[in-house]
Amino acid sequence: IKKVTTHQLQNMKERGEKISMLTAYDYSMATILDAAGVDVLLVGDSASNVMAGHETTLPITLDQMIYHASSVIRGVQRAFVVVDLPFGSYQGNSSEALRSTIRIMKESGAHGVKIEGGAEIKESVTRILSAGVPVMGHLGLTPQSIYKFGTYTVRAKEEAEAQKLIDDALLLQELGCFAIVLEKIPSELAKKVAEKLQIPIIGIGAGPHVDGQVLVVHDMLGINKEFKPRFLRRYADLHTIMTDAVQNYVKDVKSKDFPNEKEAY
Ligand code: KIV
Ligand code: NA
Repeated sequence: IKKVTTHQLQNMKERGEKISMLTAYDYSMATILDAAGVDVLLVGDSASNVMAGHETTLPITLDQMIYHASSVIRGVQRAFVVVDLPFGSYQGNSSEALRSTIRIMKESGAHGVKIEGGAEIKESVTRILSAGVPVMGHLGLTPQSIYKFGTYTVRAKEEAEAQKLIDDALLLQELGCFAIVLEKIPSELAKKVAEKLQIPIIGIGAGPHVDGQVLVVHDMLGINKEFKPRFLRRYADLHTIMTDAVQNYVKDVKSKDFPNEKEAY
């Protein structure tokens, strides 16, 4: 199997082939997503919400991210695997950012990292890149800054924030990032950025005029019932399927239907 590389992702943009990306946090799910042909797997710090049940992405630790990333890597043969630098692991200074990145790369075997922000993290991005680690940017609604925003609504609707986002995207490209995620911004702004930049722009809630799409896998599989923002398309209703399966199991245990003779030694 031919592995996906940053070079191939760049070629996909140039050919107009859209890049598919999903989050993954564990071995079993990664095996399925990789075999199904997802180009990029993101070990997102959304694990904090989806796997650990926290309200925000802030509590997840570097050690926990490395545990998720190493589990994902063991299930992957083809996909390019990117790991989020968690809150608190890079904001302090660029040497801390590099140290966190090196731990992720060494201890999980991942292929690159993603980091939230623009001009504010310029030195960290430069330093990580100079160590030879591919960096994916993340602009727009950056969930690690949720208490600054105060709301999960669409970002960069105002001119000033939109202009900063464009400037930050250009800066990240200039520094050498291989791609940028744009989260929850107007379609027209995302389109402008994707047209202006040479590197792939991956959207989530950023409309169709970008070079690829990313979703949280539990959301698109319909595992969590409550989360249903406008940008989310549900490809399955696993919440119902899993609930039915488990209810049937409970019923069969209670009624002594399970296990039957063939299911026993
Ligand atoms: O952590 C995450 O799931 C993400 C994606 C939503 C881009 O950063
Ligand atoms: Na994230």
